[in-house]
Amino acid sequence: MLVASNRGPVSYTVLGDGSMRAKRGGGGLVSGLSAIGPDADAVWVCAALGDGDRVAVERTGGRLPSEDTGGQRVRMLGIAPEVHAAAYNGIANSVLWFVHHMLYQIPLEPVFDAEFRQQWAAYEEYNAAFARALAEEAAEGAAVLVQDYHLALVPGMLRELRPDLLIGHFSHTPWAPPEYFRMLPDDIAEQVLRGMLGADRLGFLTGRWAAAFTACCEAVLPDGTGGTRIGVHGLGADGDFLRERAHREDVDERLAVLRGQIGTDPEGRPRRTIVRVDRTELSKNIIRGLLAYRQFLADHPEWHERVVHIAFAYPSRQDLAVYRDYTAEVSRLAAEVNSTYGSLGWTPVVLHVEDDFARSLAAYRLADVALVNPVRDGMNLVAKEVPVVSDEGCVLVLSREAGAYEELADEVIAVNPYDVTGTAAALHTALGVAPEQRAEGTKRLAAAATALPPAKWFLDQLSALRSDTNDDRLA
Ligand code: F6P
Repeated sequence: MLVASNRGPVSYTVLGDGSMRAKRGGGGLVSGLSAIGPDADAVWVCAALGDGDRVAVERTGGRLPSEDTGGQRVRMLGIAPEVHAAAYNGIANSVLWFVHHMLYQIPLEPVFDAEFRQQWAAYEEYNAAFARALAEEAAEGAAVLVQDYHLALVPGMLRELRPDLLIGHFSHTPWAPPEYFRMLPDDIAEQVLRGMLGADRLGFLTGRWAAAFTACCEAVLPDGTGGTRIGVHGLGADGDFLRERAHREDVDERLAVLRGQIGTDPEGRPRRTIVRVDRTELSKNIIRGLLAYRQFLADHPEWHERVVHIAFAYPSRQDLAVYRDYTAEVSRLAAEVNSTYGSLGWTPVVLHVEDDFARSLAAYRLADVALVNPVRDGMNLVAKEVPVVSDEGCVLVLSREAGAYEELADEVIAVNPYDVTGTAAALHTALGVAPEQRAEGTKRLAAAATALPPAKWFLDQLSALRSDTNDDRLA
């Protein structure tokens, strides 16, 4: 069995003394696939992402030492930096991600010009490098599970090279509705869909995204999805791992530091908390979240000195100017809220921007309210992780545009992510939920959130790929 994804399970940094440090990759995809475990004897094919990774590829020939990968067999591809940059930053993250998350500011973008065509050629080259490596690695009749929009062309390319293989593709993102998808030039839209349909089976996180894909095929291709099967697998949180990990010493240490930063209200009780943890990602809607919190403070002076918004916004895709600008705006707005409302002993927004998983878990533990308000999100694992880890129960304020909403709707306070006034009101309602009701709701949320843990999510896809029944499970 093989899996393929742009980001692998580890990334490397070269230290001052020339040695290498391996660090676990971030994001929902790595969380899901890490559950494969070394026992499955799978080979995970991924790309070298930065300079550290390229050094690791030079030193190891691309076969990473098992002590760095927790025993997982990993082949890292040393794709030329300029090809990878054009494919990853230029196409995957600036075009396909924008299309599926509907992020364009339409009066000015997208512009599909000559530069786009050059980047598209790099995207083809990068997909071809993956297809070749997979064709080399795969035994006769092996199953290959290709991940995400970075590798949309791989199924079709691999099918040409190795017709014997069983090929699956899984999308960790939303899928755009046809009228938005068709902003892509016609030939490119067709190439993306045909590339994916080279797979035997395509997986999506929710029925909504699967239905959008099918609608795109019907709008663009004369024969729709053809013979390719389509299934839905909603990735859940890994409850056992999270509960154990969230009670280790490093998390307790961070919990104590956070409690100090949160402080106590005028009666000497710990202040209440509204927690969010995200990559600093345009689709996560961190800015409107801060605007909603500011509105809530303006509307409810009775909450001043009594609540703290803990916002962790971890760096992501900083090669792209629009992400750097967004990150700067998050910091500016948090500082503005603090200078408008804060006092000597009260910091209304505690913002942290350095990635620290143990501190994220500490924040999950003490969350009274979790704010997850993406404009559009494939699933959103934070929405599922907080209720599992929360010490005393939390109320989840969740965007109806997150994939997780399909599964958790009954137990959350739903928000329209564009509606700042509505989100401010939802925060107020959430803070007012009685403790017993909150604790009961959190139990039900945690049960729903862990219903499909990563290992099961992965094995279900594999067995569905290997069975030849038409298991179309569109909601
Ligand atoms: O989960 C969706 C996803 O795009 C993954 O494909 C990706 O690994 C993750 O988000 C984080 O993004 P990036 O790899 O670009 O940092």
